[in-house]
Order: sequence, then C-alpha cells, then structure tokens
Amino acid sequence: MTKIHPDIAKVFISEEQLAQRVREMGAEITQDYHDKDVILVAVLKGAVYFMADLSRQLDCPFTMDFMAVSSYGNQRDSSGVVRILKDLDMDLADRHVLIVEDILDTGLTLKYLIRNFKARGAASVEIAACLLKDRERTGENAIDVKYVGFTIPNEFVVGYGLDYAEQYRGLPYIGVLKPEVYSN
Ligand code: PRP
Repeated sequence: MTKIHPDIAKVFISEEQLAQRVREMGAEITQDYHDKDVILVAVLKGAVYFMADLSRQLDCPFTMDFMAVSSYGNQRDSSGVVRILKDLDMDLADRHVLIVEDILDTGLTLKYLIRNFKARGAASVEIAACLLKDRERTGENAIDVKYVGFTIPNEFVVGYGLDYAEQYRGLPYIGVLKPEVYSN
C-alpha cells in the first residue's frame, strides 16, 4: 500500500495503474518500432520518471537523448516559441524520434518540438505522453498524440515527475494537492 503524502488531497492515478499502463504502452511501442532503432527524446525535467519506466518496458533497440526547454511558469511566449535550454546531443537526420513527455497541456511545447525535429530531418516524429489534459486543442493547436497513458481533467496534478514549485516530483502516483498548499 503506497503511503500518501500529507499535502495530497486525492490520488488520481495510483502507482499500480501507472505501472500497468506503462507496460501496455511499452508493448505497443515495441511492436511499432521493432525494426526502427528509435531515439527516445525526453523533455526535462518532468519526463524522467516516465522515460525511465517506459524505456525499461521496450523490447527493441533504442537510444535516448534529453532536452530542456522553457515552459509555463517562466513566462513563455504566447506565440508558441519555446526557448531551448539544453539541446539534444544526437543528430536526428533520418532518425525515427519518439518524444517521451510526462504531460501534454496546451500542446505548445510539443508543437514546437515536432516542428523543430522535422526541420532537423527526422524520418518520423511521434509522441508518447503519460498524461493528456482533457482540453480543447483545435485548429493551430491540434496535435496528434500516438501513445497516451491517461487522459485527465484540466486540473493541476503533481507526482511521477510533475512538480509544484519543484517539489513532489518523486511521488510514485499522480495526485492533486490540498488547496492550502497553494495558499501558503
Ligand atoms: C511541463 C511538461 C511539458 C509542458 C507541457 O513542463 O513537462 O514539457 O509542461 O505543457 P504544454 O503542453 O502546455 O506546452 P514544465 O514546464 O512544467 O517543466 P518541467 O518538466 O521541468 O517541470
């Protein structure tokens, strides 16, 4: 039985549910990429737990790379231009890229990355997102997410890589914070 952090009001997705879904996603990705030598690209920092767990469920050749970009909380430009804080080490030309993300909210980060990776000559760019926020992403904001762990309501969640003020990333489940945590 997972011990629940005292700042958590409710657990949204349990450790067991996460593990089960990540196993399923790993099997699906293994099947799709068995002959492709995929590069997994995780966006720091939130995606590190999902990346570590998902990659261990893959039974196909893969390499890994990491990228850091500025996102909300840091006054991101509303035009969807994302600032690269740490770029990839690998060359993406003619490579199959799978972006591994903890959460897709507005979709702006991923929209930018997909465009950017295609401009570098990637053979294909797909997304594996652990969480997909249930909100409208139509027109320019429409985004095709091939592998989705869970679709969640438009609420602020923490855990499994997701933070509030850099805290709570290490919680093994996805949860909602108690309101008093924000007001303090
Ligand atoms: C989160 C998440 C995505 C981005 C998604 O990162 O990891 O990268 O926001 O939001 P979007 O769909 O609205 O663009 P965050 O900026 O919180 O950084 P972190 O991973 O370091 O916590």
